[in-house]
Amino acid sequence: MAAIAGNAQLGLARKAKKDEFYTRLEDIERELRHYEGHFKGKTVLCNCDDPRVSNFFHYFSYKFEDLGLKRLITTCYKNQERDLFSQNDSERAIWLEYNGDKNGNRVPDPEEIGIRYFNGDGDFRSEECIELLKQSDIVVTNPPFSLFREYVAQLVEYHKNFLIVGHQNAVTYKDIFPLIKNNQMWLGYGFPGGAAHFMSRYEDIASAGQHKVGMIRVSGVVWFTNLSIPKRNEELILYRKYNPMDYPKYANYEAIDISKTCDIPEDWDGLMGVPKSFLDKYTPDQFEIIGNASDTDWCRSAGIRAMGKDTIARLRKQGNMAHVTANMNSLYLEQEGKIILPYARIIIRRRRQEAGQ
Ligand SMILES: C[S@@+](CC[C@H](N)C(=O)[O-])C[C@H]1O[C@@H](n2cnc3c(N)ncnc32)[C@H](O)[C@@H]1O
Repeated sequence: MAAIAGNAQLGLARKAKKDEFYTRLEDIERELRHYEGHFKGKTVLCNCDDPRVSNFFHYFSYKFEDLGLKRLITTCYKNQERDLFSQNDSERAIWLEYNGDKNGNRVPDPEEIGIRYFNGDGDFRSEECIELLKQSDIVVTNPPFSLFREYVAQLVEYHKNFLIVGHQNAVTYKDIFPLIKNNQMWLGYGFPGGAAHFMSRYEDIASAGQHKVGMIRVSGVVWFTNLSIPKRNEELILYRKYNPMDYPKYANYEAIDISKTCDIPEDWDGLMGVPKSFLDKYTPDQFEIIGNASDTDWCRSAGIRAMGKDTIARLRKQGNMAHVTANMNSLYLEQEGKIILPYARIIIRRRRQEAGQ
C-alpha cells in the first residue's frame, strides 16, 4: 500500500513540478558497478546536479582515476524557488569541471575543481548547457521527473550515451515507448525491491517499517540506459506451459493475457499482452516488442477492435468504471460473464529460434 502511495506521490510531484529528490550514493554505486568498463577515456556530464549536494558528482570525482575518466562536468540549475532542499547560496548557476587528481592524494580537492559561471540559469535545455552536452560522451544523472520526456528527447537528439533515473511509468509514454521498442533505450539493474529512497524534504507517506529519516520512498523508480550491460543478454527462464484456462485470449485482439512476467509460457509462439514490468526482464534476442496497448493510436493501427456500446454498458454496470469512454480502444477480457480491463499491457512475441540453434 505504501508503495502505491509513494508512486502516486511522484505523479503529484510531477504535476506540481516538485523535482527535488536527491539520489543516495549507495544507489549510484550499486548501479554503476555494472557499467565500469564504459567510462575509460570518456567525458561524463551530470547536468541536473548541484555539485554541493549531488552524489553523482561525488561518485565520479572520487572514482575518476579508477574509471579512467577523461573529464567530469557537472552543471547546477539555479532554481528560482527559495525554500529548496539544496540551500543554493549563489545567485548564479554554476558548472564544475574536474580533470582528475593533480597532487597525488587521489581525492578531488577544491583547488583541483574548476568553478565556472553560467550567464543563464543552467537549464539543461539552454545553449550553454547544450554546448557542454556536445562535449560529453556519457550523461549520468537523475533528471527532473517533471521534464523527463524533454530530457530524454535531448539525449537522443544529440546521440549521447546515458544512464539516468526515471519512473517505470515512463515506458508507456508515447515518445518513450518507441525508444524501448527500437532498442535505443532499456532498463538498467534497478533499485532494491523496485523502490528508491531519495533524500528529500517532501512528505513521506511510506509505512513506518519502510520510512527512512529525511527521505521519501518512491516505488517504480528505475534506471534507463543505452549502455550495453550483461543483463541485456540474460534470457528469462520460462517454465510454464500454455493452457487456455490460465492464459485467456482478449475478446478484441488475437493475443493471450499474462498478468505476471514469470508466467510467460515457454510453448506459446503467438502474441502476448504482458505488464510493463516485463521490460525489466526484456532481452531482445528472446522477445520482440510489438506494441503498447496503452497507446490508443497503436491499438487502432493493430486492429484492436473498439469496445461496442453493449460492452461499455456492461462495464459501467460492473461499477467503478468512470474512466470508460465510448469507443474505447483498449484490450479487454470476458471471463465468467465479466468484462476485465487488464492494466497497461505491452504486446510481445517470442523470437523463434532458427533451426539448428
Ligand atoms: C530529481 S532531482 C535530482 C538531483 C540530482 N541529480 C540527484 O540525483 O541527486 C532533479 C534536479 O534537477 C533540477 N532541475 C529542475 N529543472 C531543471 C532544468 N530545467 N535544468 C536542469 N536541472 C533542473 C532540480 O532542481 C533538481 O535538483
